[in-house]
Amino acid sequence: MRQLKPNVYAVGAIDFDRRLFDRLIPLPDGTSYNAYLIKGSKKTALLDTVDPTKAEVLIDNLLKVGIDRIDYIVAHHAEQDHSGSIPDVLMLYPHAKLVTNPKCKAMLIDLLNIADDRFITVDDDQTLSLGDKTLRFIDIPWVHWPETMGTYLKEDKILFPCDFFGSHLATSSLFVDDQAVVYEAAKRYYAEIMMPFRNHINKNLEKIKTLDIDMIASSHGPIYDKPNFIIDAYKDWASDNVRNEVLLLYVSMHGSTKKMVDHFVDALIERNLKVKQFDLPVSDIGKLAISLVDAATIVIGSPTVLTGPHPVAAYAAILANALRPKTKFASIIGSYGWGGKMVEQITALISNLKVELLQPVVVKGFPKDDDFMELEKLADRILRKHRELKIAD
Ligand code: FEO
Repeated sequence: MRQLKPNVYAVGAIDFDRRLFDRLIPLPDGTSYNAYLIKGSKKTALLDTVDPTKAEVLIDNLLKVGIDRIDYIVAHHAEQDHSGSIPDVLMLYPHAKLVTNPKCKAMLIDLLNIADDRFITVDDDQTLSLGDKTLRFIDIPWVHWPETMGTYLKEDKILFPCDFFGSHLATSSLFVDDQAVVYEAAKRYYAEIMMPFRNHINKNLEKIKTLDIDMIASSHGPIYDKPNFIIDAYKDWASDNVRNEVLLLYVSMHGSTKKMVDHFVDALIERNLKVKQFDLPVSDIGKLAISLVDAATIVIGSPTVLTGPHPVAAYAAILANALRPKTKFASIIGSYGWGGKMVEQITALISNLKVELLQPVVVKGFPKDDDFMELEKLADRILRKHRELKIAD
């Protein structure tokens, strides 16, 4: 339990050991479930709870603060890593009311079976006085669920935006102490969780623009005591700007596709194009997701397996399609033995991406001189397209 400002406490839990989220997302640096206790002169509010696996840590921290009464539990978001311990806290503080918006209330009833009479619902921009401290609720939908809201603590100028601006980073530091480390973790988090909702992210950035913010205290990762660091990063990531980068996602079984990848990467580098290459079966999908944030072009490399793409290449295509990066161009390279529909199937799998598909290069068997020439031409086309868009490095 630590203090951000007088009578504003961090009472959440650090989870150094967690390695997967949603049984999907790698957490190389663990995560935290941040909850905050605000003691006003008249009332006390708890903002969010923690993952149910850490409920004891939250309750222990609340006891350490030494409060005998919580008047309000504010639920910003119904996902269980923040809401999952609400039933425990409601049981411990039987007079506490659960404060949230109507959409989140409905989800909390569905997910946690909380009784209707424990709720107080609030609307966007509504305030709640704790005496000498005032909570202002701000709907920030689709970061990354539809019901999410944040709280602005007016007197202390702290924005509590729930998942928005968060990072999966377990650290003993309450505040950001190494911007480079947090930048990487926050970009990973943005890529995996926020990027599919880029338009909403931009609307929410616009919405908080008028607030005078001293600190941003998200529900994962360290607190930003220099809030422009993360606001500026989000503006960049969520903008339409792409970088002069080609992201090559490939898998090869017997070496034909790998030979094509090697030649193609050399051709791209010779043209001063930045390349990030991922051998899919052994790649960290979080790093791959980070690379999707900015790359102007994605190229998927796959052999043909049972008439379609290698399943691992199909998985990468599905992942990219779900994360909806702002990528401008895409292409496909690979090989086949006797035929198939690898290109058609990969193209169908990335139908969400607003990309121009550049002529794929698919070869029969091991690549030959003519095939290498086609890869050179594809590299030329990518270079030309990047130049036409005046894409910055
Ligand atoms: Fe951190 Fe969407 O929960």
